[in-house]
Amino acid sequence: MYYKIPALSALLAVLAAYPLHAADISHGKSLQQKNCMGCHDDGMYTRENRRVSSLDGLQKQVERCELSLGLKWFEEDIAAVTEYLNTTYYHYK
Ligand code: HEC
Repeated sequence: MYYKIPALSALLAVLAAYPLHAADISHGKSLQQKNCMGCHDDGMYTRENRRVSSLDGLQKQVERCELSLGLKWFEEDIAAVTEYLNTTYYHYK
């Protein structure tokens, strides 16, 4: 009997988190496609000897490139683009 309660709340947490997560990634994707193809295309994210080697490093690099564009993104935008790039190209935990 008791075991069902944590299982149910875990399920609800997953259901609650999923749409938000998916929306983040598509937000990040469209931001990236709109703003980030000026100096490099998405081949940059899969080049040999790529520079980024961790999730933290990826977020810092997104910030660096975003700053050089002078975009003034919100933290959520940086996070969404980092999430999109990580899910699509980098796959860091
Ligand atoms: C002003 C030109 C410029 C723009 C615009 C730009 N980038 Fe970059 N980006 C660079 C350069 C140059 C590098 C390579 C840096 C290096 O090798 O040290 C780079 C590298 C990167 C990398 C690291 C690739 C690797 O080696 O793993 C990521 C991630 C990245 N950019 C993301 C973005 C994102 C996201 C945007 C849009 C916000 C963006 N860039 C827009 C110039 C730019």
